[in-house]
Amino acid sequence: MIYLDHNATTPVDPAVAEKMAWFLREHFGNPSSLYPIGRRVKELMTEARERVAAALGAERGEVFFTGSGTESDNFAVFGALEAFPGKTELVTSSIEHPAVIEAAKAVEARGGRVTYLPVDAFGTVSLDALRSALTPKTALVSIMHANNEIGTIQPVADIVRIARERGIPVHTDAVQSFGKIDVDVRRLGVDYLTVSAHKVYGPKGVGALYVRRGASIRPFLRGGRQERGLRAGTENTAGIVGFGEAVRVMEEKGGKERARIERLAERLKKGIEERVPGVRFNGHPENRVKSTLNFAFPGLEAEAILLALATKEIYVSTGSACSEESEEVSHVLQAVGLPPEIARSCIRMSLGRANSEPDIDVVLKQLPEIVAKLRSISAFHPA
Ligand SMILES: Cc1ncc(COP(=O)(O)O)c(C=O)c1O
Repeated sequence: MIYLDHNATTPVDPAVAEKMAWFLREHFGNPSSLYPIGRRVKELMTEARERVAAALGAERGEVFFTGSGTESDNFAVFGALEAFPGKTELVTSSIEHPAVIEAAKAVEARGGRVTYLPVDAFGTVSLDALRSALTPKTALVSIMHANNEIGTIQPVADIVRIARERGIPVHTDAVQSFGKIDVDVRRLGVDYLTVSAHKVYGPKGVGALYVRRGASIRPFLRGGRQERGLRAGTENTAGIVGFGEAVRVMEEKGGKERARIERLAERLKKGIEERVPGVRFNGHPENRVKSTLNFAFPGLEAEAILLALATKEIYVSTGSACSEESEEVSHVLQAVGLPPEIARSCIRMSLGRANSEPDIDVVLKQLPEIVAKLRSISAFHPA
């Protein structure tokens, strides 16, 4: 199989699987218990928290474990809005992940006001639009770091500067940038930042929210005192330990592995552009997570390409995994200005550790053939 959908999820690293299996066998204690088997689990969680914090340039006490990237996004949006009772406005972008967009819709349903900033053709948010959207009632700005469908990286540090001048906190969803580009909370200057374990070769069902020391936030889940009272519920201890191990492996592999993946992606991008006439690249040419490639194949249905590739055991996506089952056209591709019929022809390929040079050779042979074949069929059956 050739797996080109690392933005949807990543294979669990063998070291992570091993550590989690060991943990599940040996450590069932509740981290809130005061006797040794509970304390030992707490220690292992602390180790994981330190690893995640260090990778983000944060302190251990600024990292709160959650049940997913989605939960961290909801936590940030609702937790920050609740922390500023007199302020009811949220500023976000039109290309956020549904985890933020749907939370924003819930804010609106509760009587709050939301501004969805537009993006340009490359998917970059306009700083001028941001400036004019901020009001004295703005409680939070939430703009993603890198987009999951097209990879475009937002100028988060500039966004923070503009918001900070008016005393407004900023959240960024770094689920798709963590592990792929530098994600340093101090350099970005954000107040809240979301990450998810399963996008960095860790387990599914565990995420984290960075909350800057001193930043205001209200609890998301109410109950026990877990996660210092901000996220109640007995922790997903094995998941958290696995997340820590995934981050350790990520740091160990470092920039060399990132550079290898970027080289593969660049070769694939060039190869497709040379071999598939009429193909159109979506996303920022430079300011992009380089392992994310999104192409339009005008005249064709993305699903037909996806299924034809799948018969060759090449796995790609038609956009965000979350919208895959719905008939809706990607809100991201619409926001960058693609007409629906072009947006419906788009394929996302996201590379990662599972890929090697021979994979690229196979895709560069199969994809042009598939596209040519589908085009010849659709020529006989004009839409
Ligand atoms: C940008 C972004 N944010 C949030 C999420 C949600 O993370 P999780 O799957 O851990 O809920 C994803 C996953 O697709 C994502 O790509």
